Amino acid sequence: MSEIKVEATKILRGAVRVPGDKSASHRALLISALADGLSSITGLSNGDDVSRTKRIIQQLGAEVREQEGGVAVVGPEEGLRGTTEALDCGNSGTAMRLLAGLLSGVPGEHILIGDESLTTRPMARVIEPLQKMGAQIQGRAEGLPPLQIVGRTDLNGINYEIPQPSAQVKSAILFAGLKSHGNTTVTEAIRTRSTTEDMLRTALVEVVSADTDTGAGRSVTLSPGRPMTHHWFVPGDPSQAAFFAVLGLIHGNASIGVVNILSEPERTGFVQVLSRMGGHIQLNAGSQNSSLTLKSSRLVATEILSSEIPSVDEVPALSVAAAAAVGVTEFRDMGELRVKESDRFAGSMELATALGCETWSEGDDFFIRGLGSASAFNSFRLNAGLDHRIVMSAAIAATAGNGGVIDNWETVKSSYPQFFLDLTSIQ
Ligand code: S3P
Repeated sequence: MSEIKVEATKILRGAVRVPGDKSASHRALLISALADGLSSITGLSNGDDVSRTKRIIQQLGAEVREQEGGVAVVGPEEGLRGTTEALDCGNSGTAMRLLAGLLSGVPGEHILIGDESLTTRPMARVIEPLQKMGAQIQGRAEGLPPLQIVGRTDLNGINYEIPQPSAQVKSAILFAGLKSHGNTTVTEAIRTRSTTEDMLRTALVEVVSADTDTGAGRSVTLSPGRPMTHHWFVPGDPSQAAFFAVLGLIHGNASIGVVNILSEPERTGFVQVLSRMGGHIQLNAGSQNSSLTLKSSRLVATEILSSEIPSVDEVPALSVAAAAAVGVTEFRDMGELRVKESDRFAGSMELATALGCETWSEGDDFFIRGLGSASAFNSFRLNAGLDHRIVMSAAIAATAGNGGVIDNWETVKSSYPQFFLDLTSIQ
């Protein structure tokens, strides 16, 4: 097991450019592979998760060439095809779930496998709707990976209400819908990131989105079709920016920026949460890209609803903000955290406890009594398991607080290989 010792630092200045958005990167590769001919992608995430998708589309018959500033992808004219090789998604739930949908309509046999973490993550949430579309897909008992799929050409579009907000489930169904007979409609009670529908629309697939009656949700209707080639530009990942945002606020002497980030309402809920906590955080919107500016702040506790940050990716970072705040921060309806790359419900509490906070939970809610300042954090030791976001959350806590040791830190490579270099660059 590897460890990294992260030292506390007295002053933070400068700006970080976060890597390309992981969600948009997976989709740019998949949509380009489905198209007939040459697409290009700039700003692609260099994380291991996205590399898995890149390798898999090659196994399925797409050509991928590294080129100045990005990659070129040539989708085969005759369409993707099956391979007898296993398709290894590594740590990436996004790769596995999106591919499950896409491959349901690609003739041939497909086997999707993953690492120890991914092999424990629930796949029934995609298996069930895909089977309703006529897909031949099955997991191990209890709907766990590996997934075995026999691609079919007779899928039918469905009208499906997603039980838990999930962009991955929505996307799996939409990718299957591309090859189905008839339209596919997916309805979500809470709006999740619209990356798939937006990018498919850009690739000239007919996709219509409408708000639901409550105003909180959305329904997306897709007509089958083949995406067109495109020159994709991937903006920076707001979920990675969240780590530096929290760091810039809780650190005692910080004035930092994060540049080149995608700003969309389903992804930047953490900015509102941190401003509500009293953080000096500013989102400067640009036409393609936005940036954040952060200054040391005295944070106060708040109540955070999962619906404010759909997909809850930023909760481990926010739990570090809560640990530095004055008062008890309430994290509500956070059950989905339990089925991420690790049990982040337990992991977020474990990190706050290691920092010296009192933490407790009731059902799907958990609570952190903050210490009032990061300067009061304990120096700690934490095992991040196979979870990149736990590594980064622990690293910002150690940097703003009193140092710490993180075991299994290399798992950060799944989304942000240069994270520690970027962290050092602002010290
Ligand atoms: C993602 C969706 C989210 C998120 C993940 C990326 C995507 O998962 O946690 O990091 O790219 O669609 P859920 O769909 O499970 O909410």
